[in-house]
Amino acid sequence: MSAPLLEIRRLRAELATRNGPLNMLDDVSFTLDPGRVLGLVGESGSGKSATAFAIMGLLDPPARVVGGSIRFAGRDLLGLKEAEMRRLRGNRIAMIFQDPMMTLNPVLTIGAQIVETVLAHAPVGRAEARRRARDVLGRVGVPGPEERLSCHPHQLSGGLRQRVAIAIALLHEPDLIIADEPTTALDATIQAQILREIRDLVAEHRTAVLWITHDLSVAEDLADEIAVMYAGRVVETGPAAALLRRPAHPYTVGLIASQPQGQRGSRLCSAPLGLT
Ligand SMILES: Nc1ncnc2c1ncn2[C@@H]1O[C@H](COP(=O)(O)OP(=O)(O)OP(=O)(O)O)[C@@H](O)[C@H]1O
Ligand SMILES: [Mg+2]
Repeated sequence: MSAPLLEIRRLRAELATRNGPLNMLDDVSFTLDPGRVLGLVGESGSGKSATAFAIMGLLDPPARVVGGSIRFAGRDLLGLKEAEMRRLRGNRIAMIFQDPMMTLNPVLTIGAQIVETVLAHAPVGRAEARRRARDVLGRVGVPGPEERLSCHPHQLSGGLRQRVAIAIALLHEPDLIIADEPTTALDATIQAQILREIRDLVAEHRTAVLWITHDLSVAEDLADEIAVMYAGRVVETGPAAALLRRPAHPYTVGLIASQPQGQRGSRLCSAPLGLT
């Protein structure tokens, strides 16, 4: 059997505080293969974003990785130099952040940023790059793509900015997308459209996706497998539907019970949740 694309083993990270180090991540392990989607779920503060930032090499002081390993395509990411890590981030791993301004440059127009991304990845001229920029904006549900190209990020709503950031990640056609709650603030129709685009990307390019979410119905919808985090640990991993129907860990049971009714997908609602 070939090695997984992403393999995280016993990852630990600490947060320096005045009163000494705090455990931020304390035993995070999971693997992800090409063409698969892993949903990373867990209550607020459980370490989901910290895990994503650790993979991207973006965990900054006062936080730092203190143990374990992160292997990507056979390479040990924790041993890479910053320049090598930056190359990986530009090409093979793309992150969609909770805050789209982590991706977008405030001083450049949307068009300039998307066209630059297209040109960096495809041997096409400017006119074709602009056409592709309009096309990708349409695919993530941006109305009037042509007019948006000349806007700066601050002229767009938060939801539109997030869709532009997602469009840029799609254009990278990376091997791995790490998405940190990117659709939480979007309305249901747009969210569904973006999840469809992600599914297409996974099917067509065998992209692997680590999708962080509070919303278990999104996780069930999109993910092949789910990993549940609690207090810096992955406490349970398994096939998405089976894990949500028959959670083994009490924290998973609690997480399912804490989902707002309106957010539960119909399939999740019809699942036997009467666990005591
Ligand atoms: N820059 C920081 N300074 C201090 N504490 C931090 C920092 N970043 C994260 N933490 C702490 O690290 C722990 C893990 O946080 P993390 O942001 O990974 O949680 P999360 O699961 O992503 O939560 P949420 O669902 O709210 O986004 C939490 O206890 C959090 O308070
Ligand atoms: Mg987070």
